[in-house]
Amino acid sequence: MRMYDIIMKKRNGGELSKEEIRFFIDGYTKGEIPDYQVSSLMMAIYFQKMTAAETLELTLAMADSGDKLDLSAINGVKVDKHSTGGVGDKTSLTLTPMVAACGVPVAKMSGRGLGHTGGTIDKLESFPGFSTGISNDTFIKNVNSIGIAIMGQTADLAPADKKLYALRDVTATVDNMSLIASSIMSKKLAAGADAIVLDVKTGSGAFMKTEEDSFALAKEMVTIGKNAGRKMKAVISNMDQPLGNAVGNAIEVREAIETLQGKGPEDFTELCYTLGSQMLVLGGKATDEKEARAKLEEAVKSGKALEKLAQFVKAQGGDDSYVYHPEKLKLAPIEKDILASTDGYIEHIDCDEIGICSLMLGGGRETKESEIDLSVGLLLKKKVGDKVSKGEPIATIYASDEAKVLPVTERFLKAYHFTDKEVEKQTLIKGII
Ligand code: URA
Repeated sequence: MRMYDIIMKKRNGGELSKEEIRFFIDGYTKGEIPDYQVSSLMMAIYFQKMTAAETLELTLAMADSGDKLDLSAINGVKVDKHSTGGVGDKTSLTLTPMVAACGVPVAKMSGRGLGHTGGTIDKLESFPGFSTGISNDTFIKNVNSIGIAIMGQTADLAPADKKLYALRDVTATVDNMSLIASSIMSKKLAAGADAIVLDVKTGSGAFMKTEEDSFALAKEMVTIGKNAGRKMKAVISNMDQPLGNAVGNAIEVREAIETLQGKGPEDFTELCYTLGSQMLVLGGKATDEKEARAKLEEAVKSGKALEKLAQFVKAQGGDDSYVYHPEKLKLAPIEKDILASTDGYIEHIDCDEIGICSLMLGGGRETKESEIDLSVGLLLKKKVGDKVSKGEPIATIYASDEAKVLPVTERFLKAYHFTDKEVEKQTLIKGII
């Protein structure tokens, strides 16, 4: 088989066979096929697209390219959750203890943040002593004993995707539906869960800006998962403004804890219950969404979900007293309000820009090597649909460096758009597939 023939076949609109896909993925992972040939194939795929059969085969070949997590020693149906990422997305911190408290085992691999969207691991490290660098044995033991464990992504999970994604990133071939779906799903399949609930974000702070694209991506991923023998659900949720009010690291952990105490923002709480209900049903712990929601609400009300978070933090070396006293999570010392520059209703927020403000404060990574400041962030006081008066605080900045306050304030204000007409509040859940 020759890579040249595979490129030409795709360039001319042909359908690649299973053998051809395996050949290029194996060869590329081993370094036997050069970047220039694979980038040419990526561009051909970009224009000619892939069939459902090709997309599935690409996913499976990438999932098979490295280590796979064996979760068979864990009792019960293992349900994973994946978010396509967004600003203020602290869902895993609240959702995983909630579902674990209802009996669904959580065995999760999470990543660090890069760019303006944060990572679960960075946020968890706000608990002093907490580590995701646990052995496979400890991971399995903790899931079986307390029902929840989270570890860092091993370097060798779907290495073909890692290489291919880096190549797509510099060759303008990221935004192809089949390539995105196979990239995400290859990592999810290699992470070993029996069932997967996807949170596909849509809007200005999401990878997919339009609802049409978000639904198409969700459908594509659900189809891949089902064809690979996994139980699947996808929730399409709004990311046209940050989720909840907190954006940063420690500040998001505070909000995640408040939500487990039943005092969280409405949109974030709703998302946790919606995703959690799907997880409970797929995990066989509830017969329908209504029963699942009642169980989740009870886990919050009784304090069991909060207790589960404390057990989890402690089991991974963290100080669990912070779970009961979230005010101990340190926020940066310079606290400044951002004031509305006009009267009116908030019509629109450039969501990405709010993430960039957090990044500018030091709360995100510009490159993989960047050190992040867990204490900085923003707390939004007004969101789309809210009425504001000129001079009223719309957000608070938490900064470690005075020099960053003014540029962040200016950028933040440019991201908020006002109108004098009343504006409807945004719908959070756009659909479930
Ligand atoms: N996230 C991924 O993991 N892969 C993509 O291709 C896009 C987003």
